[in-house]
Amino acid sequence: MKDFIAQSSVGKEIVDVVFEAAQGAIKATKEHGDDAVVNGAFGTYFKEDGSFLTFDTVYRTFDRIPDFQKAKYASSIAGPSEFQSAVKDWLFTSAGLDINADVIATPGGTGALSSTIKNALDRGETVIHPDIGWGPYKTIAKEMQNPVAYYQLFDGDQFNLESFKETCTKVMKDQGKVLAFINDPCQNPTGYTMREDEWDDLLTFINELSEKGPFILLHDVAYIDFNKLGDDYKRIFERFNKMSDNVLTVIAFSVSKTLTAYGMRVGAQVLISNNEKQRKMFNHACGNTARGVWSTVNNGGMMAFASIAHNQEIKQAYLNEKQQFVTLLQERADILIEEAQAIDLPIYPYHEGFFLTIKIDDHVVKNELHLKLKDHNIFFVNVYGGLRVALCSIPKQKLYGLAKRIKDVLDSIVEQQDEQEESVPQEQAENSVTP
Ligand SMILES: Cc1ncc(COP(=O)(O)O)c(C=O)c1O
Repeated sequence: MKDFIAQSSVGKEIVDVVFEAAQGAIKATKEHGDDAVVNGAFGTYFKEDGSFLTFDTVYRTFDRIPDFQKAKYASSIAGPSEFQSAVKDWLFTSAGLDINADVIATPGGTGALSSTIKNALDRGETVIHPDIGWGPYKTIAKEMQNPVAYYQLFDGDQFNLESFKETCTKVMKDQGKVLAFINDPCQNPTGYTMREDEWDDLLTFINELSEKGPFILLHDVAYIDFNKLGDDYKRIFERFNKMSDNVLTVIAFSVSKTLTAYGMRVGAQVLISNNEKQRKMFNHACGNTARGVWSTVNNGGMMAFASIAHNQEIKQAYLNEKQQFVTLLQERADILIEEAQAIDLPIYPYHEGFFLTIKIDDHVVKNELHLKLKDHNIFFVNVYGGLRVALCSIPKQKLYGLAKRIKDVLDSIVEQQDEQEESVPQEQAENSVTP
């Protein structure tokens, strides 16, 4: 007999490492008080006094949106025209660019990612992600029944172009098409931002490989408005306009991060390709996904974003307000990184953004460190290759001395491991090596 659940949905019980770590931090705060806890698990921005960051410019603008606009459905499945033009202004016009692109409103950046996988790949085809990346990428791929192939994000302290090339070339050979994710700037979880020459080399390769089949580049710009270059970063998009006809770039934009309005669930897919016919087909498919999966996006949220983007005065006030918090992230990072460097606590190359990641290659040691730190009321998110520290949620005063606290626990784990290894007879140690 069959089950209630479809075979394809079996085994999908969700263990979200971010929500799990956050729950631990909340519980510890209730038990021990806020001062005793370092909550580096939350991926949302908290101010120095521990309160949630909400921009006045955003919420006063939202207050002025008429009730009926907040209550009604959006005037179009792909988002009201005001919202669509606001997204283009935000990403392109603000950087002096004129790019022919389609915008489809989505529930957050997440909606943009999942709709892109759904419409770029057939079920069972492989999507390409970085090995060190945002955890839910995997969940989204699983939901869409698409396996994942990984490229190594880093080669030393640089973007690992060779690994990206290798993975994409193999997938292109196997399935005649590639969908690959790049999360830049302020990569989650490392805070890495690619250099311009790294982008140039990447795009040159994508153009070359697209001679063998369609290449869909998903550029996840979730944290774009927290990069230190500001609008200048957006000039990168001009390159997408000059790609070969067999390349489609989908920018996944998250209003959740830009406005620190995570619960509003507003985002967008922005499609750029010189192949107008194929871009249109893709656009239609994404419109159908919208209608068939979530219907329309939160209209009040989209109208608030459009009001900010289209009013120079409000936009400037927002930029001024936000800038303090871009600077604050850097100040927080400087404290932790300087102290970590002084005591050899390894960290992946961090440039900017909400997160940095402590580098721990041995996953047994990493898991142990993650657990032991909880005993010290220090909460991070366990990611591939390390522990993610949410700079966005730790005030400066709790960052002083934190590197040493982590390093002490790490050293004690490594010492204990060395002792155990020494006490295991040689023959037994050799037999215990698993491939
Ligand atoms: C790298 C990355 N991409 C996309 C998202 C999606 O954000 P949202 O769906 O909340 O807009 C997030 C959220 O944390 C993220 O970290």
